[in-house]
Amino acid sequence: MKKAKRVQITEIGLEGLDTGKFIEGQVAEIRATVGDGLAVNALSGGVDSSVVTMLGHKALGRRLKTYFVENGIMRRDEPQQVLARFAQLGVPVELVDARKEFFAALAGLIDPEQKREAITQTFYKEVFGRLVKESGAKFLLQGTNYTDVEETVAGVKRQHNILEQLGIDTQKEFGYKVIEPVIRLRKPAVRTLARALGLGEEIYDRPPFPGPALAARVIGEVTPGKIEIVREATRIVEEHLARTGAFQCMAILHDDKVTGVRDGKRDFGLQIEVRCWDSADAVSASPTKLPHELLLRLADALTSEVPGVVSVTYNVAKKPPSTMEAV
Ligand code: XMP
Repeated sequence: MKKAKRVQITEIGLEGLDTGKFIEGQVAEIRATVGDGLAVNALSGGVDSSVVTMLGHKALGRRLKTYFVENGIMRRDEPQQVLARFAQLGVPVELVDARKEFFAALAGLIDPEQKREAITQTFYKEVFGRLVKESGAKFLLQGTNYTDVEETVAGVKRQHNILEQLGIDTQKEFGYKVIEPVIRLRKPAVRTLARALGLGEEIYDRPPFPGPALAARVIGEVTPGKIEIVREATRIVEEHLARTGAFQCMAILHDDKVTGVRDGKRDFGLQIEVRCWDSADAVSASPTKLPHELLLRLADALTSEVPGVVSVTYNVAKKPPSTMEAV
């Protein structure tokens, strides 16, 4: 992984954040930077990109074009839900179907950093390179936050949205400049801002979901079939663990199969690992102490509802040395 040398950005802590002033300042800065030109941004529905969409919308109105990139690796019904939510807020969002491009870029890759790099390249170079060219925009607004920068700079994991801090000249490589309005804030501050911007609880309180989406939860090669399995497992895990108050929960599909038995016959099947985290800031995390009965119900649901699953495990290692996502 390419390692960056320095972080020049200083954090604005929750206690130092004046939301009114911050919003005003960012809106003015976006306007000044974009001038009378156009900007684009990608909305994933997470709190960071939702806040940036609202700031950009306030600053630029129709001169901001917001896209939801359907990359094929999102959770069940996610594209439709996000589009419906923003339609209610009066913010137009265009759906871009890029499923084929993402799966083609991921084909044959098993190394985690190569998978992350393939997603980054497809997103920024292929999809956004094209959208920027088509629209005539010169700027991309995105929701990079302070923790993303810190972890990438430390060389822990290449967060999909880190570009300049890794020495990437976006103008030269992708044909546009990147504007990052929340780069000095960590998640709790971004959530406060989301509330101040009038976004609903389902957005300001939304559990984090990674940019590389379900691809971060498939060990080994990412294929449409494996994504479908992890998507269904994710739906079940999120439903069962929704009321635990955990920071984040997830299903991970392992690459190796194990021997199981179904209807008295050998079933060489899939393994799902469940992770559920208590954390304040995602920098460190502990597995949530889940009731045994709840885990047993979850295992029953996973083995009966997800085709081919014969084994379910619960991760009990902390971060560090684990990371929250498997890839
Ligand atoms: P890790 O796996 O690094 O995750 O312990 C820490 C938190 O960050 C999320 N995550 C990401 N978020 N882009 C993101 O926007 C990424 O590339 C990415 N990788 C991990 C993860 O879900 C957890 O909340």
